[in-house]
Amino acid sequence: MFCENKKIAYLYSEIANSLNIYFQNTMIMAIKIAVLSQKGGVGKSTLARAVAVEYAKHGWNVKIADMDLKQRTVATWNAKRLDSNYEPKLEVQSFANVKDALKQEKNYDLIIFDGAGQADLQTLEIATASDFVILPSGLSSDDLVPQIKLAHELRKKGIERRKIGLSLSRVGASERELKDAQEYIELAGYKFLGRIDEKTSITQAHDIGRAANETKYESINKVVDEVIQNIIDSIDALAESVEN
Ligand SMILES: Nc1ncnc2c1ncn2[C@@H]1O[C@H](COP(=O)(O)OP(=O)(O)OP(=O)(O)O)[C@@H](O)[C@H]1O
Ligand SMILES: [Mg+2]
Repeated sequence: MFCENKKIAYLYSEIANSLNIYFQNTMIMAIKIAVLSQKGGVGKSTLARAVAVEYAKHGWNVKIADMDLKQRTVATWNAKRLDSNYEPKLEVQSFANVKDALKQEKNYDLIIFDGAGQADLQTLEIATASDFVILPSGLSSDDLVPQIKLAHELRKKGIERRKIGLSLSRVGASERELKDAQEYIELAGYKFLGRIDEKTSITQAHDIGRAANETKYESINKVVDEVIQNIIDSIDALAESVEN
């Protein structure tokens, strides 16, 4: 495990071995994580960047595939990160389609697909290509209902339930609202990955090329790291279940 106070359970090669991701029997392919949504602005790029930073900190060679050619949010963000010489260094590339991104997978340990603003034809293709799918959502039913609907649609198209997790973005002060949203996710039968609070310091971090787990405040970074830890644990569990 990566985040503070947890043991590192799996090295990349061990996870890749367990997931049987070989190419021509010798080449190990990248693990793929998708961050997708039905609606725009729910925190996909926020999570994609934070997850990328955590894995890269532990020596994984990470590429973020920015699937939104119109916005290129993460590509622009990474240019600032590189300018400021922040570690760990990440690679970000915009892709028009999944096939082009997958062509590069033997060069990376991890590819994180940062989905386009709204679900489109590529959404299913990205989910199908990925080992784990994260669906971030705001707390309101305006956000939650379409995200659960997307999760159900992915299930219908053959994506396994255990490969899907939902997180809550821009969480405010109301614990009640958070609890209700978590219950809604769990009653729908999906794994709850945790919450990221609404914080100005997260926006400020993004503005200078830092991720949500690299803000000035350890307390904020810790909460974001808990979500990432749950994602890492979910992927480790998938690898373990394939092994056994
Ligand atoms: N926890 C947070 N606290 C403060 N600001 C946040 C937080 N999460 C996201 N934001 C801000 O909200 C906006 C939308 O977040 P983000 O870009 O992650 O969403 P997205 O789902 O990738 O959006 P799009 O669908 O447009 O690609 C961004 O400006 C981001 O900096
Ligand atoms: Mg985005």
